[in-house]
Amino acid sequence: MSHDAQKVRSFEHPGEGRKRAKSTPKGRQVDPQAAEEIALLLGDRPRRRDLLIEHLHLIQDTWKQISASHLAALADEMKLSFAEVFETATFYAHFDIVKEGEASVPPLTIRVCDSLTCAMLGGEKLLHELQTIAGPGIRVVRAPCVGLCDVAPVAEVGHHYVFHATSSEVLATAARGETEPDIPPYVDYDTYVKDGGYKLLNDLRAGRVSKEDVLKALDDSSLRGLGGAGFPTGRKCSRIASICFAICTVSWRAR
Ligand code: FES
Repeated sequence: MSHDAQKVRSFEHPGEGRKRAKSTPKGRQVDPQAAEEIALLLGDRPRRRDLLIEHLHLIQDTWKQISASHLAALADEMKLSFAEVFETATFYAHFDIVKEGEASVPPLTIRVCDSLTCAMLGGEKLLHELQTIAGPGIRVVRAPCVGLCDVAPVAEVGHHYVFHATSSEVLATAARGETEPDIPPYVDYDTYVKDGGYKLLNDLRAGRVSKEDVLKALDDSSLRGLGGAGFPTGRKCSRIASICFAICTVSWRAR
């Protein structure tokens, strides 16, 4: 150690007197090892901000949790603020955020829906039973509605849903190692387009169909929004027809 470095420095309050405060890095510091792991994991994937959730999934799937150090490294890698990344990650129940000093998440997570329909059909009892009898290595937590209310109560073993769930069936599913989702047959994007999908959109863009025709068809269909006052969709679209972008909302289901 140099002689200068050994000297005891007097305390300097930032901004005190005429001296400028010493520059210190702001915000959360990135752990070099975490930074290396995240850079390696993302590889040549783009770092665009719209891919944030994709990248969070990648981290969750790789480590079965998302540590605070990985969150900070991801924010740094994507040139986003830590707050943006943290808020996004903690908004979704399926990301397991582990803060500094917290224990790692057990290998298997069972989520039990505790929203209204499931709660009315035994979800609370199921949750408490599972929390009591699930063995080590299994974490049982609450989850918000997963969109399967017609087969309530619902539990999710890893990513595998159990319909009309009972504690014995849920634990048997876990014992069989069924943790992956059942994906039903579906039409992929290329097939959909090949079979005529988006024809109207393409016709509209190419000027083969006019905007007025589309608005009239919507109006004639008497389609109404059911989220509020049942306002006619055609009339609503006519009002916003001059706006360049339309945002479509759709119902979703987890299966
Ligand atoms: S209330 Fe449980 S799936 Fe909707």
